[in-house]
Amino acid sequence: MFVILLPSQGTLYGLTVVCSLILSAVAASAQENQAGATANSEQLRTLGVHGGDCKKCHPSEVSSWMKSTHFQTADLRLRSFAENSKKYATALGIKQQDMLTTAICANCHGTQVVRNDEIEVVSGVSCEKCHGAAGGDAGWLNRHQSYHPQMVIPRQQETPEHRESRIADCESAGMVRSENLRGLALACFKCHLVNNEELVAAGHKMASAFEFVSWSGGEVRHNFLVNRQVNAPEPSLWLEQSGSTVENRRRLKFVVGTLAQLETGLRARAKMKNPVLIPQLGGMVAAGNGKLLQINGVAPTDEITQATALISPMLGTLFAPLPTDEETYQKVADQIAELTQEFIEQHDGSQLNGLDALLGAVEPHFSQQFKDRYIPPKEPNQ
Ligand code: HEC
Ligand code: HEC
Ligand code: HEC
Ligand code: HEC
Repeated sequence: MFVILLPSQGTLYGLTVVCSLILSAVAASAQENQAGATANSEQLRTLGVHGGDCKKCHPSEVSSWMKSTHFQTADLRLRSFAENSKKYATALGIKQQDMLTTAICANCHGTQVVRNDEIEVVSGVSCEKCHGAAGGDAGWLNRHQSYHPQMVIPRQQETPEHRESRIADCESAGMVRSENLRGLALACFKCHLVNNEELVAAGHKMASAFEFVSWSGGEVRHNFLVNRQVNAPEPSLWLEQSGSTVENRRRLKFVVGTLAQLETGLRARAKMKNPVLIPQLGGMVAAGNGKLLQINGVAPTDEITQATALISPMLGTLFAPLPTDEETYQKVADQIAELTQEFIEQHDGSQLNGLDALLGAVEPHFSQQFKDRYIPPKEPNQ
């Protein structure tokens, strides 16, 4: 048990207003905690949907999210301690009473926040897991929606200068906006590529055939900002402000999603020690590279050509269960990250119409349980 004293005010504050200066003290205190709970800075700044009141202003986004597997996964995999959940947790020595607090499972199947000095799971995969933790003194929650320092004015009346500085503020506070395709895609892969060797050895999937356009276009889609009644095919605010098109955004997402998959895969490969799992991970990286070669075949760009040239010479060692050359893989991952950034700066999608041949086959992805509940079966034709 500990309390925090902010010297400037001389008042006791709750953890929700904690600032980075005291993070190390918090971490140290949390370590002393009997349960072994160590809060990280993301957990300290996370408010959760209700704490952050996202619902007050984004009711349609929230109700759409509540139908998704992301919302339900805390109940399915953490609260109910049965079958595979129990199997994986037990293999890692995790006790049932920790599933809704500090268990590693809750990093991906839940949203952990610090409340009354304890780590607590407040929901499944929440808004802030993809858009960035919103709270704290320097957090983005209040700034992201204020169009004028003193007045409430409509979006259309915000000055361009105010908008520019507001957005820069939000981004430096860690907000991941629709425009930030790399940030969004990396957020997906942080959970959708399971790089914990013990967990995978216990039978947990390392990954599914995740594809960014498809997987963000189905049950996850919640593009209601401009019109609460209409779930736009791509983010409505971004469409309005960029003046771009749905087609352009999908092309960019397809490429950036593939690059993010490769980057994450290479970073995981750099750390991987288990000789049985290395070929599986190597196979995923190679598949990502195969997709990149396909992309380059139909819509060649300098950045993608360079990225494939980086991966191709590694294909032999990627699969080999050899001692990991961590530095090489990290270095290539860093280069892929730079090329992704360059790609985003150089292309708006309008020249990449060659990709439409590949995108034609990309269907929005829905989980089986979502289909069972929300998608009525098609009427037979005759
Ligand atoms: C008081 C109202 C309000 C609250 C509360 C609020 N938002 Fe917003 N949000 C807005 C407005 C207004 C915009 C449009 C901002 C703009 O025009 O750039 C917005 C935009 C966004 C965007 C899109 C930004 C972009 O440029 O792509 C995201 C993502 C978002 N909010 C997430 C959240 C989350 C998550 C929460 C809860 C932690 C939250 N918001 C709470 C009003 C709010
Ligand atoms: C790095 C993120 C991550 C961690 C950590 C994690 N999971 Fe998962 N888990 C996932 C993802 C992503 C899926 C969905 C896989 C898919 O369909 O692509 C999943 C699926 C599952 C499933 C359903 C599929 C199955 O195998 O039956 C169960 C059960 C599960 N996880 C339990 C757990 C438990 C228990 C823990 C902790 C011991 C845990 N997970 C830790 C990301 C994670
Ligand atoms: C905090 C971790 C986390 C993040 C971030 C995350 N996911 Fe997930 N996602 C999961 C877990 C865990 C599951 C599996 C839930 C289960 O089966 O219990 C899942 C399931 C899904 C499903 C349902 C798949 C199925 O067939 O069951 C889709 C679609 C999905 N995620 C898309 C995305 C996209 C797109 C992003 C990024 C924009 C993303 N996810 C980011 C953890 C995460
Ligand atoms: C699994 C990751 C994930 C979760 C969880 C998530 N978002 Fe998003 N959000 C995205 C992605 C990705 C986009 C951009 C959409 C796209 O490119 O398809 C987006 C776009 C948005 C937008 C812009 C919509 C528009 O029409 O311009 C808002 C607002 C938003 N999210 C708010 C929220 C709120 C509020 C929650 C929680 C109820 C939430 N998001 C949960 C990934 C997520």
